[in-house]
Amino acid sequence: MNDISQFSSGISILEITYIVASVLFVLGLKMLSHPLTARRGNILAAFGMVFAIVATILFHRKDGEPIGNIPWILGAIVIGTIIGWVIAKKVKMTAMPQLVSFFNGMGGAAAALISMMEFPHVSPELIARSGMSNGHVLAILLGLMIGTISWAGSMIAFGKLDGWIGDMRIKAMKYVNLTILAVLIGFIIFIMTRDVQASSELTPYIYIMFAIAVVYGVLFVMPIGGADMPVVISLLNSFTGVAAAMGGFLYNNQAMLTGGILVGSAGTILTILMCKAMNRSLLNVIVGVFGGGGQAAVAGGGIVKEITLSDAAVLLSYSKKVVIVPGYGLAVAQAQHICHELDKLLEEKGVEVKYAIHPVAGRMPGHMNVLLAEADVPYEQLIESDVINPDLPNTDVLVVIGANDVVNPAAEDDPSSPIYGMPIVKARDAKNIIVMKRGMGKGYAAIENMLFFHDKTRMLFGDAKASLQNLVNEVKNL
Ligand code: TAP
Repeated sequence: MNDISQFSSGISILEITYIVASVLFVLGLKMLSHPLTARRGNILAAFGMVFAIVATILFHRKDGEPIGNIPWILGAIVIGTIIGWVIAKKVKMTAMPQLVSFFNGMGGAAAALISMMEFPHVSPELIARSGMSNGHVLAILLGLMIGTISWAGSMIAFGKLDGWIGDMRIKAMKYVNLTILAVLIGFIIFIMTRDVQASSELTPYIYIMFAIAVVYGVLFVMPIGGADMPVVISLLNSFTGVAAAMGGFLYNNQAMLTGGILVGSAGTILTILMCKAMNRSLLNVIVGVFGGGGQAAVAGGGIVKEITLSDAAVLLSYSKKVVIVPGYGLAVAQAQHICHELDKLLEEKGVEVKYAIHPVAGRMPGHMNVLLAEADVPYEQLIESDVINPDLPNTDVLVVIGANDVVNPAAEDDPSSPIYGMPIVKARDAKNIIVMKRGMGKGYAAIENMLFFHDKTRMLFGDAKASLQNLVNEVKNL
């Protein structure tokens, strides 16, 4: 594709378009930070990308000549657009995390391919012509390593989220992964210290590096399971951003550089926030070590008490404070609208209703915020779990709707649990607990939840949408 020697001097139309595209990315990202503006932000950033692509096709010059291979480029764009459009249109909201993982992996693969394609072209003449320095060779090697890890890791994450790849835990995994990482860095040092004249001779090392990076990507994501997938997904996301930024640096392409840096830095910030939310260390994430490392905790025990619809309606209607804990099951049931109807009904009766939002509830960052915003639940009613936790002892009824792991006390009580140390919504502190789910099914972490056997807990079994509809009818009839 591009020849890395072709950089025009002075500001060209292309560079101006890249700056405009970069500004659109930044504005889009800013708007994504609030549910009310997120949709427009997404469109704005996508428009920036289209703008950058069209401008590149029209204005990029190679040795003074316009871009070649136009039919191939347009063909690839058309095929990619159709596939992406159809998949995105058809995907269920609950399968969105798999899709995000898959698309993220494609970004990593593209960055790795750029590096593999450009490395054999590095030569002393090219360096003399383009002023290319060792920095560019380093960008190629880092783009290859990080992009490949991101691709391989994202494909494993995709398989895990889709349920066809399980966890694989080996005790020495941490040391194996650290060794592989050291070998990869060793390869970079080795190649960087060779004579660039021999770049074509060094090309086989690039393929070996690629293979090792694939192994690392697979091994570092394989052991991760339980409730820790969100952390690794945001880390992979930041990897793809950094790998794309390497491509931008290589081609001196401002739009690619800004886009990559934005994804890389936003992903890194999200990873750090997720690590904090999950009480995990960043180093452990990078080498694939998570949780208590043990198997599922205790087997189910104790007595499960049920509550009737009418009792639940009375309990809720005569409360002062109600906290709803939404989870993945609410999204599966698509019960967000009827849930909001219940909260409005209760508020009309003078009950204060808030939502406790756990950072990893659902299957993607911000899942519950997006879901409830879709049902027009006012943003002020959504309170982060660590903020609402101290208020739970004053809460009359805590209603868990399709949530499980995020209210599992094993995170506090059981050091052998894979979710041990993860902050949770401290449901046990509330005066009464109603849990709405279909049965005694486990959550994503596949472990028992002793909250369901707690003295204060009563279960309202059934699909969340149907149960909420029935509850709304009962509350109306009171
Ligand atoms: P989960 O722990 O996954 O539990 C969801 C519960 O919903 C299940 O126990 C299931 O029980 C119930 N359910 C399913 N369909 C239902 C329906 N139609 N009606 C009512 N209930 C239904 O959910 P959570 O508490 O939100 O926790 C999220 C988990 O996913 C965490 O472990 C988190 O780490 C992980 N994860 C999160 C993300 C992000 S970024 N948020 C990404 C990947 C993984 P029944 O089968 O008995 O109904």
